[in-house]
Formats: sequence, C-alpha cells, structure tokens
Amino acid sequence: MITEKAFGEARLFTISGPELSVSVSSRGATVTSLRYRGRETVLGYDSDEGYLRGGAYLGATVGRVGNRIGGAAFELKGVRYPLVPNEGENQLHGGPDSFDRRLWTAEKLGEEALRFTLVSPDGDNGFPGTLRAAVTYRVSGAVLRIEFEGESDRDTVYAPTNHMYFDLSGRGRSLDARLWLGADRVVEPGPGLIPTGRLLPAEGDFDFGHIRPVARDYDHAFVLTGEHACRLEDGGVAMDLFTDFPALQVYTAKFLDPPHRPYQGLALEPEFFPDSPNHPDFPSVTLRSGERFFRWAEYRFSESEQ
Ligand code: BGC
Repeated sequence: MITEKAFGEARLFTISGPELSVSVSSRGATVTSLRYRGRETVLGYDSDEGYLRGGAYLGATVGRVGNRIGGAAFELKGVRYPLVPNEGENQLHGGPDSFDRRLWTAEKLGEEALRFTLVSPDGDNGFPGTLRAAVTYRVSGAVLRIEFEGESDRDTVYAPTNHMYFDLSGRGRSLDARLWLGADRVVEPGPGLIPTGRLLPAEGDFDFGHIRPVARDYDHAFVLTGEHACRLEDGGVAMDLFTDFPALQVYTAKFLDPPHRPYQGLALEPEFFPDSPNHPDFPSVTLRSGERFFRWAEYRFSESEQ
C-alpha cells in the first residue's frame, strides 16, 4: 500500500508491506524512514526544513557524481569541464544544491513501488548534457530495491548513489555494529580524501572478511568483489546489501549535526570509485549520449542473533 502526504514543500510517500515500510520524500528522492518489522533502521529528520538545513545527505539520492571530484574539474573527449566546488577546491556529492535538494517528480508504480524523476539541465553545477535521472524504490517482503537510471543528450559523467545512514538497533552506536564486507581492496585516500590512484589490499583495520564490530572511524571506498557488498548486524537485525556498483563507501559519520550525534549511524553508499572522472583506470563513469545508465542496490533485512 502507498500513502502520500505533504512534507513542507515536498511530498512524502510511504510504501508499507508486512515486513518493511519505506518513506521517501520528493526532496532529493530521499529515504526518510525504513522500518523493518516496525523498527526504524535509518537516520532522518522529521521535517523538510531539517533536510534543507542538514549537510549530511541523510538518506538522499546523491548526484550527478557521488563522492569527490578532485580540483572540481574533469576532462572528457579532450574538453575540460570546470565544476562548481563545494568542499574547498573539490566537489563533493554533485556540488552545491544538487540532486539531494531538488524536488523530484513522483509516480506510483502499483502498490509496491515509486519512481522519482529529475531533469538536470545542461551545465548543472558544471556537468555537460541535459540528464534525465530516475530512481525507483520497490518493496518486496523484507527487501528494498533501488534502481538508478539516467540518460543524457550529450556525453557526460554520471555516478549516483543513495546515502542512507543505518542504525539497525536504534541505539545510535554505529561503531558497535558488526560489519562484513565483500571487498578485497580499499581506494587509498590522499589529501582532502581525493584518491592517490592506488588500491591497497583490505588488510589489518580494513579487513572485514569476518563479521566484526566496526570499532573505529572510516570514510573509505572499498572495492567490491561481487554483488554481496556487505552485511551489517546490530540489535538483533541484519541488513545484507547487494549491488552491481563496483564500490561501497563506508562512512562512520564522524560529522553529524544536531539533532544527530557523531557516529549515530553508519553510511553505506554503493557507488563508483571517488574521483573516477580523473582516473581512466577506475571503472568508467562516462555516460554517452543515447546510452542508458542502469545500476541497482538491494537492502535485504532479517532477524539476527547479534
Ligand atoms: C563522504 C564523507 C562526507 C559525507 C557527507 C560521505 O559520502 O565520504 O566524507 O563527510 O558523505 O555527509
């Protein structure tokens, strides 16, 4: 069943099923709530103003390019595109006032799915081409599936993500949650968290090959080995994330503004590698005119012993 109500300037839609219910605001096509068997599992604000004030991308659809682009510029087919920076000289999460702040158009697909669309104009924050973006949320049983689509009328770059912060137990102690990652390497961060270009083996503190407490601060892109990206367990709830994106950003939320506390949730962002437009050897984020971008992520919930 899908219900709809006003949410400030935005509309708030809720898909409710027997296991899972998800609320999505048309502001940023943002997941504001994700309840498994009645228990809230993600961080959110209770008003549209909260989302406009906040700087942490809680539950938002991030784009055009998630994560950082070093020097806020990239080159495509010999042309240099300067972008609008919003983190020092770099661009983070698509630049200022980007996809997470826009009002998307919503459409109900039956009783279990919602599709949000946005037209990003040519030159949006410096990116070339008119891009038609779509994000679909579908609930089946205890699974939330997100599909990301995009088409551009000129060659461009496109690499969206969803930026939910998980707090499965509701205790707000993400460092105590237990995490397993289907990853064997980590993108080495350089100054300003711009990749050095090296991929390091996921060893020592970066080894999540056996499920264990998160324990320390992370803001790293892990290189995935297959579709099972991670398993998170906390307070008797487990969430397994499957995706066809090549990387997963694990961010322990060191910086969260009130009403939230630092480390209250764990951001798990299925994405391309940071600064991909400037690294020809990273998986390509080029979207050619006439091509269709399509990537998916599935969040599968269950009860767990821990
Ligand atoms: C980044 C963090 C950043 C946060 C913004 C994450 O995706 O990796 O560095 O602070 O988003 O909320």
